[in-house]
Amino acid sequence: MSSTQEFKKKILCIGAGYVGGPTMAMIAHKCPQYKVTVVDINQTRIAQWNSENLPIFEPGLDEIVRSSRGRNLFFSTDIENNIRDSEIIFVSVNTPTKTFGAGAGMAADLQYWEKTAREILNCANSPKIIVEKSTLPVKTALAMERILTSNDNREQFEVLSNPEFLAEGTAVKDLEHPDRVLIGSHETESGLKAREELVDIYANWVPRERIITSNIWSSELSKLVANAFLAQRISSINSISVLCEKTEADINEVARSVGMDSRIGNRFLNASVGFGGSCFKKDILNLVYLCNHYGLNKVADYWESVIAINDYQKERFVINMLNAMFNTLAGKKICLFGFAFKANTGDTRESPAVFITKKLLEEKAQVVITDPKALGNARIELKGIDEKVWYEENPYKAATGCDAISVMTEWEIYRGLDFKRIFESMVKPAFIFDGRNILDHKKLFEIGFNVYPIGKPALTHF
Ligand code: NAD
Ligand code: UGA
Repeated sequence: MSSTQEFKKKILCIGAGYVGGPTMAMIAHKCPQYKVTVVDINQTRIAQWNSENLPIFEPGLDEIVRSSRGRNLFFSTDIENNIRDSEIIFVSVNTPTKTFGAGAGMAADLQYWEKTAREILNCANSPKIIVEKSTLPVKTALAMERILTSNDNREQFEVLSNPEFLAEGTAVKDLEHPDRVLIGSHETESGLKAREELVDIYANWVPRERIITSNIWSSELSKLVANAFLAQRISSINSISVLCEKTEADINEVARSVGMDSRIGNRFLNASVGFGGSCFKKDILNLVYLCNHYGLNKVADYWESVIAINDYQKERFVINMLNAMFNTLAGKKICLFGFAFKANTGDTRESPAVFITKKLLEEKAQVVITDPKALGNARIELKGIDEKVWYEENPYKAATGCDAISVMTEWEIYRGLDFKRIFESMVKPAFIFDGRNILDHKKLFEIGFNVYPIGKPALTHF
């Protein structure tokens, strides 16, 4: 294609998922001088990226994709030719927890990652900068380099680490105004040169002081540690929420008092039914596995407890429901308000709602799920076990005839619902379990609900 000659740089991203798609869309949007191509083995996903219905929902994403697609942003399944044609290759494939063999349930499954390394080696016929965008165990770059240099007729490859810190639901905002962009490299002449090339890309819109550089291992490890620290805060506040329920302290009041200490800070202190999402659990497990691998068992145990508290929080949510509803849920209809793992996304990976639904079904309850964006993914998650599950987009219809509502996701729309109308349509006594503490509990109680928040005394009419 002759027009490609006009571009200053040709950038490729392998993996068109939640990270690859939005990240590359932002680079293309901010840097019309670069040609940005995103490839994937999943043809359906690529077709969706090329359509009006993008494969993921993110506020603001449609606009930035539309602004660049066909101009300097391209989605394709032609991996080979695009590897050949690009100078900088981001690798943003999935790195889930391994489900088989050594390290099953703990270690990162690097098979998708390794395949891309081999593909690059087989197709490349000119020097390339390879950028680790996926979240990886520390020292993975070494494995990538060993594969890339395993061929005698090798081209020169420089591997950089550039982990992604975006959160779903705010991906576009996070990409546009990141707290920091981290770029790790070898501190060799070629490593530093490659690092500068990547700095130059981000410097098109990110202030220089927010682009930080480090050695490659610090960069890989920082990503795991950042997620571990964020998850740890949630488990910390959730652990205290149980104590609040026993002592009539109020978790929101405690979080506010603690968070106003500027050394602690007030973010990520919302008690909840538990954290979800595709990364926190897998990245902590990955960290735990690494620590054990290096014989640091105490350190591994410390981080593993963050997951243990999260599991406990989800389990006790269902036990609370069971206790409150006279120790039986059999035949009762429970409405879940939200199924996404957080608001403003349709993503349901590791959502607490998946766990809660399975537990409720074990108790022989019937489950009605409502969510503005996640019903499609909810159907996929529950495929084969959803005989007693109903999906309904309208929350009023969903709650009608139910015994209880459980708030699973902090969608803004749930705050503004007419709960009097909802109460009237439900079986009595009607219960609300607010797994996100987003509703006006006193008002709900006055309407007639029995209300069970997280980390606060229940308000009941019994
Ligand atoms: P995802 O599953 O949404 O996307 C990964 C994509 O890679 C899939 O579409 C898959 O088909 C494709 N792929 C796999 N092997 C391939 C190959 N050999 N060639 C071409 N394509 C291939 O995953 P994601 O959520 O985008 O996460 C990607 C990485 O980024 C993970 O390591 C994750 O930990 C990390 N991360 C994710 C987030 C997030 O919010 N989801 C944030 C920061 C970092
Ligand atoms: C998280 C990190 O915030 C990102 O920086 C990181 O890039 C990303 O993981 C990743 O590596 O995948 P994400 O999982 O998309 O982003 O969303 P978060 O906002 O971190 O929320 C994670 C979970 O914690 C959600 O279930 C959310 O509801 C829950 N949460 C969050 C709480 O229960 N309480 C809080 O105070 C904050």
